[in-house]
Amino acid sequence: MPQLWPQTLGPVICVVGARPNFMKMAPILRAFAANTPAIPTLLVHTGQHYDRDMSDKLFEDLRLPRPDINLEVGSGSHAVQTAEVMRRFEPVLDEHKPSCILVVGDVNSTLACTLVGVKKGIPVVHVEAGLRSYDRAMPEEINRVLTDQVADLLYTTERSAADNLAREGIAADRIRFVGNVMIDSLLSNRTIARPPADTLRATGIDPGILNTADGYGVVTLHRPSNVDHPAVLQALLGVLREISASLPLVFALHPRTKGNIERFGLEGLIDRERMIILPPQGYLEMLGLMAEARIVLTDSGGLQEETTALGIPCLTLRENTERPITVEQGTNTMVGRDVAAIRHHAAETLAGRSKRGRTPELWDGHAAERIAADLAAWLMARQS
Ligand code: UD1
Repeated sequence: MPQLWPQTLGPVICVVGARPNFMKMAPILRAFAANTPAIPTLLVHTGQHYDRDMSDKLFEDLRLPRPDINLEVGSGSHAVQTAEVMRRFEPVLDEHKPSCILVVGDVNSTLACTLVGVKKGIPVVHVEAGLRSYDRAMPEEINRVLTDQVADLLYTTERSAADNLAREGIAADRIRFVGNVMIDSLLSNRTIARPPADTLRATGIDPGILNTADGYGVVTLHRPSNVDHPAVLQALLGVLREISASLPLVFALHPRTKGNIERFGLEGLIDRERMIILPPQGYLEMLGLMAEARIVLTDSGGLQEETTALGIPCLTLRENTERPITVEQGTNTMVGRDVAAIRHHAAETLAGRSKRGRTPELWDGHAAERIAADLAAWLMARQS
């Protein structure tokens, strides 16, 4: 391997768009810079998430460099958002002539940039490939299936991903099991996570509520299937209110969920004494809150993995998961939207009968380094 990046190979364009992309990209950029030879990168933010809470704050927490290019697409329907990313991304490729495009996760920006790249004959590399919920009603599932079908190189976080990809006819030589870059971020930030009391104080809330012997739980909800239908959201808020009677809950509210609670007139279901409502949290704040929680109730993909890595019990309020290893080996339990199941599993957890879990294979803090070494070798071999 040469000591310097060959002049004939362009930079790797690294794409981020939405909040869950940022914690995956931060360790990748660091590993690319530290690789021998250092891999030149160009960071493109599509602007799918644009609020300070949903974007800039995370960049600061994760020590991500400012994006070289921001496409500023903002919100819109899936079609509009995807099309806008594609339209604005194409000239970036014409101008910068990348050696490849690296996308992470399953958001609309992931698929949009993949499509533009492959149609221009530029290799696309997908990090966190092969995860499947087998639920095509989830927009992310469509993004995953299509991205993996056309991307050139697929880096996976758990072994089951290769089986999913094989079922879709994807050749084994495109797939590399490297571990989980999101856990790289978690392990490197664990010691600087923000203490929960500081997080509450910063939003003007008396942290005394966290200091009871009971401890507290953490809640996040944002999936359209949970928050876009008034009856479903009402039932979920109802059971959370019940749980909060025995355990105070800290609820970090996604803008979609906040909007819908207001629109459906459900504010009355929130017991402000026992349910602490916070705006979307920074990375270090969320990590600190989760690390000391007795239970996490969520519909997020990332939190299922992070709680497994932290050894904190997680109840996932979804019917399926694309991350089965968190259930098989980790601390995750799927409870769906069934109020009785949520109530039952929450009570079991609080009674100390929850999964202990263990850390999955290669969730060791070094996934990004493995990607850097492998990708550099792959690009150089293609060139010669
Ligand atoms: C997106 C991802 C989802 C990910 C989630 C994390 C897709 C299909 N979905 O869903 O996989 O788990 O991000 O948050 O890509 N909004 C703001 N400020 C922002 C961003 C969004 O107010 O900075 C509001 C807008 O009203 C927008 C709504 O939130 O309409 C939803 O945002 P969008 O990016 O479309 O999807 P998410 O639900 O966040």
